[in-house]
Amino acid sequence: MTRTATLTYGDQTIELPVIEGTEGELGVDISQLRAKTGLITLDPGFGNTGACQSGVTFIDGDQGILRYRGLPIEQLAEHSTFVETAWLLINGKLPNKAELDQFSKRLTKHAPLHEGFKNHFEGFPLNAPPMAILSAMINTLSSSSCDGKLHEDDIDDLSAKLMSKVRTIAAYSYRRSLGLPFIYPDPKLRYVANFLHMMFSMPYEQHIASQEVVDALNLILMLHADHEQNCSTSTVRVVGSSKANLYASCAAGVGALWGPLHGGANVAVLEMLEAIHEGGMSAAEALALAKDKQSGFKLMGFGHRVYKNFDPRALILKRAADRVLGRLGVQDPLLDVARKLEELALIDPYFVERKLYPNVDFYSGIIMRAMGIPTSMFTVIFAIGRMPGWIAHWKEQNHDRASRIARPRQIYIGPKEQVYTPMDQR
Ligand SMILES: CC(C)(COP(=O)(O)OP(=O)(O)OC[C@H]1O[C@@H](n2cnc3c(N)ncnc32)[C@H](O)[C@@H]1OP(=O)(O)O)[C@@H](O)C(=O)NCCC(=O)NCCS
Repeated sequence: MTRTATLTYGDQTIELPVIEGTEGELGVDISQLRAKTGLITLDPGFGNTGACQSGVTFIDGDQGILRYRGLPIEQLAEHSTFVETAWLLINGKLPNKAELDQFSKRLTKHAPLHEGFKNHFEGFPLNAPPMAILSAMINTLSSSSCDGKLHEDDIDDLSAKLMSKVRTIAAYSYRRSLGLPFIYPDPKLRYVANFLHMMFSMPYEQHIASQEVVDALNLILMLHADHEQNCSTSTVRVVGSSKANLYASCAAGVGALWGPLHGGANVAVLEMLEAIHEGGMSAAEALALAKDKQSGFKLMGFGHRVYKNFDPRALILKRAADRVLGRLGVQDPLLDVARKLEELALIDPYFVERKLYPNVDFYSGIIMRAMGIPTSMFTVIFAIGRMPGWIAHWKEQNHDRASRIARPRQIYIGPKEQVYTPMDQR
């Protein structure tokens, strides 16, 4: 039975179709609202607006559920890798062995950057933020095809190329910030190990990452791979809706992710830990400050807009953090501050009553710090992880015949029509 919602405005009454998703989510289809009534909707921040129908990721924030293409994140974390999960997101099903092998080969083939790209890197100042370099260089990739075309009909190859080159660009942006020589990708290494090699090897000494570190980074990338219509993914879709190419769309996504309210939160966690430690504050004092509304201080890495019960990614990463930190035997005062904050907040009535649990950024920042990854690279690593999600959404939209260019409306609140005043009369 088709369900409808009834809207009454003045003496007009219209029936609006109600659309139901596969998990029972309901949405009122208002696509005919303006044509039929002259009204538009106003929803700042789009908190009540479904911009599309999507089959990529399902989130239930109240239940703490996250599924990629129907597969629970807990199962993927236990059995899969970042590369396999990327293929799943982009193609809608788990790959068979031949498909995964072909994808891996493509990732290896596309890892090196054109030698001419080195000139671009050299043009950036040494202290350039790696996110600025990443966004600029992804856009530069749009120009690197021999015939100037991006062959968007071969989305499999294009996706592998983007995912692989983003990893090389990220590592090179880090090397550039330290003035270190670029390290070429090693075709014998898998995706994550190769990234760590390009980040940390020296021409005279190869960095061999331990299995714990490789596994933990694999997990971090996988847990960040998609999160449905968040700010950066929506940006990728909006840019892609104008039929902009995949690279231009994802470069815009990097810009959106950069902000501290989005991907930059993991950096904010580390900055907070540093401030607490350097200010000589105890964890209990920091907690008291976070509870004091007048202080303007929040416990970064706690709370979530969507997950009001727990963040399933944070539960997985907490276990990984305990494991990795234990195995690496890292002694770091900031990690001690983090552990103490977590311990106290989890039993503090203020945090318990408001359901403020540590989120994914809290643990990912701690693990990356323990691995020796500098804070400036945290959001870049988030971007590497999110790339398959952006690609999957760009592809889904590009194949959706119902997709239209994104063009929201507004309620105009500026001046009414006025007459131009010549300069000498102003
Ligand atoms: C993530 C976040 C923006 C969610 O915001 P939200 O859903 O709008 O939650 P609210 O702001 O409504 O918070 C509800 C209550 O908890 C408090 N609160 C939320 N997060 C808090 C935090 N990190 N520290 C202290 N108090 C917090 C709010 O002050 C509010 O208190 P009140 O009910 O007494 O007014 C918010 O929790 C936050 O700023 N967290 C820290 C930043 C962070 O880690 N961001 C990464 C998210 S992945």
